[in-house]
Amino acid sequence: MNTNELIKIEDDYFINTFTRQPIVLDHGDGVKVFDIDGNEYLDMFAGIAVNALGHNHPKLVKAIQDQASKLIHISSIYYNEPALIYAKKLIDKTCFDRIFYANSGAEANEGAIKLAIKYTGKSEIISTIESFHGRTSMTLAATGHEDYQEPFKAILPNGFINVEYNNIDAIKDAINENTAAIIIEPIQGEGGVNIPDKKYFKEIEKLCKQHNIVLIVDEVQTGFGRCGTLFAHELFDIKPDIMTMAKGIGGGVPMGGILATEKVASAFVPGDHGTTFGGGPLVCAAANAVLDVFDEENILDNVNEVGDYFLSELKKLNKDTVADVRGKGLMIGVELTKPGAEYVDKFRQAGFLINCTAGNVLRFVPPLIINKAEIDEFIKAFDEILE
Ligand SMILES: Cc1ncc(COP(=O)(O)O)c(C=O)c1O
Repeated sequence: MNTNELIKIEDDYFINTFTRQPIVLDHGDGVKVFDIDGNEYLDMFAGIAVNALGHNHPKLVKAIQDQASKLIHISSIYYNEPALIYAKKLIDKTCFDRIFYANSGAEANEGAIKLAIKYTGKSEIISTIESFHGRTSMTLAATGHEDYQEPFKAILPNGFINVEYNNIDAIKDAINENTAAIIIEPIQGEGGVNIPDKKYFKEIEKLCKQHNIVLIVDEVQTGFGRCGTLFAHELFDIKPDIMTMAKGIGGGVPMGGILATEKVASAFVPGDHGTTFGGGPLVCAAANAVLDVFDEENILDNVNEVGDYFLSELKKLNKDTVADVRGKGLMIGVELTKPGAEYVDKFRQAGFLINCTAGNVLRFVPPLIINKAEIDEFIKAFDEILE
């Protein structure tokens, strides 16, 4: 079947939830992906900030193949070695003590909110405007986008307060005796790559301690090296009570998780939360491989070096249509003075996959293995497209 015939299947059979780019991708290699017609694209989007090691990384592929030939699924009722090994390996690199395995970012956030509610015995959650925490009813209530919430207002849970991001007074005003938790992204991704002041997070940490509020950092997008440290809250020098993760964790296999301190985690007892698929041997084998490659191939060093280079090259573009260039590591946004959708098409036609968020912010979240030559190729195209 050709591209048009394949895409028509979506028109005829899928529930209409996504505006997709009109290409059918077939295979990938490093930072490149290829469609079924053999067209090549430089992938500056990495499947929404997921493919940390790019496409087809040999160690990730081997780990998945080896595990698939041994055991794919057994449920959370039995132990499996990859999940046990991974828990220790990851926690040793963080300020947390305990893990819960989930399957996606929204599911991780849903569990984190439940944990905070059980731990505090309170019922209100503060989150920020322009945030993104997921599409389940609790995470949608936490997601500070009126337009996403509007059609489902009738079933959104009570107790969620969305306040302005990077405004500590807005958080202070929202805190009351019922506040259980603050859920917040270290850097807002969907909201347009918004980077808060360093003191904002220090102040939040202080307020949480003062009022016995659980601080949940949503690192679904910023985690696993995306911003140059293993987790982005490290940039703000804080120790949250709970962290949620997904996207980059498994290098592309669907996986999520919650990390928590001993004190907060102890609120859950068997029966409070669960999952059929979470922490399965296949995805945990992939996650183990991702973390090993991070160490073996100095991925974080590459993110910092190439990310800084990318940011400085973008800042040189200096075109009328560019309002702002901002980012950390390999999570970079270019805010335009006009809507960005048409640029996504122009880039794709020129052989580059990018994304536009918040209406006018071109978001670049490429695989963390991208090199300077590939950035040069992209900057050259960007320059031409802006002309
Ligand atoms: C910060 C953040 N949290 C949560 C989610 C939801 O993750 P998922 O789509 O895996 O449910 C996303 C997805 O983009 C995200 O960026």
